[in-house]
Amino acid sequence: MSRIDWTSHQGGPLRGEITVPGDKSVSHRSLMFGALAEGTSHIRGFLEGEDTRATAAILGKLGVRFETPAPGERIVHGVGLHGLRGTADTLDCGNAGTGMRLLAGLLAGQAFDSTLVGDESLSRRPMRRVTDPLGEMGAQIDTNDGKPPLHIHGGRKLKGITYHPPVASAQIKSALLLAGLYADGTTEVIEPHPTRDYTESMLKAFGWPIEYSPGKAKLDGGHTLRAVDVDVPADFSSAAFFIVAACIVPGSELRLKAVGLNPRRTGLLAALELMGADITVENERTSGGEDIADLVVRYRRLHGVALPLDIVPDMIDEFPALFVAAAAAEGMTTIRGAAELRVKESDRIASMANGLKACGVLIDELPDGAMIRGGQIHGGTIDSHGDHRIAMSFAIAGLLASGPIVIGDCANVATSFPGFMELANGVGFNLGPVR
Ligand code: S3P
Repeated sequence: MSRIDWTSHQGGPLRGEITVPGDKSVSHRSLMFGALAEGTSHIRGFLEGEDTRATAAILGKLGVRFETPAPGERIVHGVGLHGLRGTADTLDCGNAGTGMRLLAGLLAGQAFDSTLVGDESLSRRPMRRVTDPLGEMGAQIDTNDGKPPLHIHGGRKLKGITYHPPVASAQIKSALLLAGLYADGTTEVIEPHPTRDYTESMLKAFGWPIEYSPGKAKLDGGHTLRAVDVDVPADFSSAAFFIVAACIVPGSELRLKAVGLNPRRTGLLAALELMGADITVENERTSGGEDIADLVVRYRRLHGVALPLDIVPDMIDEFPALFVAAAAAEGMTTIRGAAELRVKESDRIASMANGLKACGVLIDELPDGAMIRGGQIHGGTIDSHGDHRIAMSFAIAGLLASGPIVIGDCANVATSFPGFMELANGVGFNLGPVR
């Protein structure tokens, strides 16, 4: 991939109405369940990002046929639970931890061997969190010292287990539930803190008997998935960059339309509310079983907070944006209990701390968070470490900075948010490529 750098100049106020692209978590899952179902599923609002396209390409190699009637739509011709075909090709998940971890569970139950690989960032990320419990279920998965590539042996007989993951992770839970479809007996996951429940809700929609409540999910193997159509809501995690931007840039008033508001995703709204933000939720409704609404965000001066520990898992992808909100707020913000950030697409605590320091912000890095002293953000040159959410966070910081922020290595924004720059500039950002 060729290197792309951006410069974010002072801009705003942010005004207008936007719809951000489809949810990444729901898009990955809709492909997987559509593929394993009997019949044809029509997905609307599908995220045309590199992560979700990588999952589609992998399922395509395994014999699933897709049609793309229009951008953001897929028709999935399901092959049934036992209809995937093995391939000698390696299966490339690109940058996508969700793709790799969920597919590890799905492939552990197949009759054929498969090999999952990823890009440089994904190749550094921990996989034992899924391969260990899948091994307890009877899977055999070889790793490179706990990291990708994953070589998954086929033809293994799986049995259900009750598992208590040591970290709150929807990816771990989902990998086990996917393997559980192929297992004898009951697979149960009991989490230390509830995580996003899209796997559970989608299994239910596809007709698989499942019992679940926040933090608990339980299913038996041996049923059938029946195709259903899926409406993918707009991704809260993509909306987050615009929510924070409108909170911190004076004079802003921005409407974000039809955003998915799954309660396990919206911790950022609670955090910003504690910081004094002016965000209203309008037109609340449900779509495809998920809560969606329009968010109207108006500028109001934020103040620093000690972030409550219990909302951390509900905003795990939103921390890079929150670091910028904290840097723009008055006073100190303390973030603890967020060590998981160190094993995302980059070490997000280090990436944000180093980047904000380069922009003159006073920040102390902690093993599981940071202390951020709000104040003036200056111009600077930062490295996104190829992490989409770090790149977009510094694009927001640039709106307020006293000089331009040059952001290195932004190509991976396309993994989750194709068209970010155009959408951002349309509502008042001043963002461009470095030539
Ligand atoms: C995801 C779960 C989260 C999140 C990721 C998407 C999912 O990871 O960070 O972007 O779709 O299940 P963890 O569950 O590992 O925290």
